[in-house]
Amino acid sequence: MATINYCAFTFILFWLAHFVESAIITIPAKANANIAPLLLRAWKEACAATTPTTIVIPKGTYPMTQVLLVGPCKAAMELKIEAVLKAPPNPKDMDGKKEWLTVNYIDHFTLSGGGTLDGQGNVHVYGVKDTGFKSNRLPNNLSFNFLTNSVIRDITTLNSKLFHVNVFGGKNLTFDHFTIKAPGNSPNTDGIHIAKIIDVTVKDSKIATGDDCISIGDGLENLKITGVTCGPGHGISVGSLGRSPGEQPVKGLFVKDSKFIGTDNGVRIKTWPNSHPGIVTDIHFENIDMENVKNPIVIDQEYCPHNKCSKEKPSLVKISKVSYKNIKGTSATKEAVILACSSGVPCDGVEIGDINLTFKGGAAKSVCKNVKPMLTGKQVPAVICK
Ligand SMILES: *[C@@H]1O[C@H](CO)[C@@H](O)[C@H](O)[C@H]1NC(C)=O
Ligand SMILES: *[C@@H]1O[C@H](CO)[C@@H](O)[C@H](O)[C@H]1NC(C)=O
Ligand SMILES: *[C@@H]1O[C@H](CO)[C@@H](O)[C@H](O)[C@H]1NC(C)=O
Repeated sequence: MATINYCAFTFILFWLAHFVESAIITIPAKANANIAPLLLRAWKEACAATTPTTIVIPKGTYPMTQVLLVGPCKAAMELKIEAVLKAPPNPKDMDGKKEWLTVNYIDHFTLSGGGTLDGQGNVHVYGVKDTGFKSNRLPNNLSFNFLTNSVIRDITTLNSKLFHVNVFGGKNLTFDHFTIKAPGNSPNTDGIHIAKIIDVTVKDSKIATGDDCISIGDGLENLKITGVTCGPGHGISVGSLGRSPGEQPVKGLFVKDSKFIGTDNGVRIKTWPNSHPGIVTDIHFENIDMENVKNPIVIDQEYCPHNKCSKEKPSLVKISKVSYKNIKGTSATKEAVILACSSGVPCDGVEIGDINLTFKGGAAKSVCKNVKPMLTGKQVPAVICK
């Protein structure tokens, strides 16, 4: 009896040790079987391990219901998705209050593997029109909250049902070779929405979607965007800001060596009229190609999408230290440069270097209000602000 117990005991120890020491857990995925419970089980083991662990979802196509991965974990965690994961095609099979894949409170998290997260949003937008779900109740997205020292690399997100990726809170997060794909006419499918986080990089990535490629909410500090191709979509937008009281400043945005193709806007800062006070400062756009972009350069402090706001009072969001350098290409409308700052708090420290934006249907022009930019290069069209 004692021997048997001893045997069982050693076996259990051995079994535990196997999990604790193993750096890789491969999910035993089976065709057509929901991957969510297997992933959660692996996550629980990995998160408790004191050594860094990689969870691998191997190549193949698997359905996945909603998944919430939470930390803190005892060591670094990597989720390597080599597979194509498919969200439930009918939004009714998802809890509309939650995202599809949520990762929260992890230090040193890596999402990698070259795989695809397919939100199957196109099924809703183009196929199942009568599901009775309002678009604002559709579950969608990938959500990364309070991640620190983390990397999202070599992952594709396809046809989200709403915002693709929502980033909230944390410090030091990098998106590298990240791809977002959705049709240009899918509503509200922002690419990456980022707010209340410090030190973010988005590099060498492609974003094609129906709304903003990257949108920036309040409380963002130091976001570097380089080597990003955006389009179709609505461009890279700061805001809209000023609608809610107590918004934190947006401080430090650097968009460099990037390209916009056929987007509604290029680089845009937008704030609501009649707004709460706020701050947007230290925003720089450099080496940017515009190809057939409706409004390549925009500051819009009377942003009012459905004309449902009062423009009697100005925006109180103060915009300062903004630069545009070496921005060239084609505008799809006459108004290539729009700097419409607030009459309540005019823009300060706006610098315009070399720009060359041409319009096929005639001469491009610039529009400005409540701003006296410093001109440091050659501007086509001329930027004349009185
Ligand atoms: C996706 O992210 C957006 C942006 O924060 C959020 O408003 C929305 O509720 C999220 N979607 C779901 C279904 O949680
Ligand atoms: C940011 O996170 C990455 C990835 O974990 C790490 O390599 C890098 O050292 C971190 N940077 C800082 C300043 O901590
Ligand atoms: C602006 O771009 C057009 C089209 O590429 C080019 O022909 C023109 O010479 C450029 N102008 C300046 C001032 O660089």
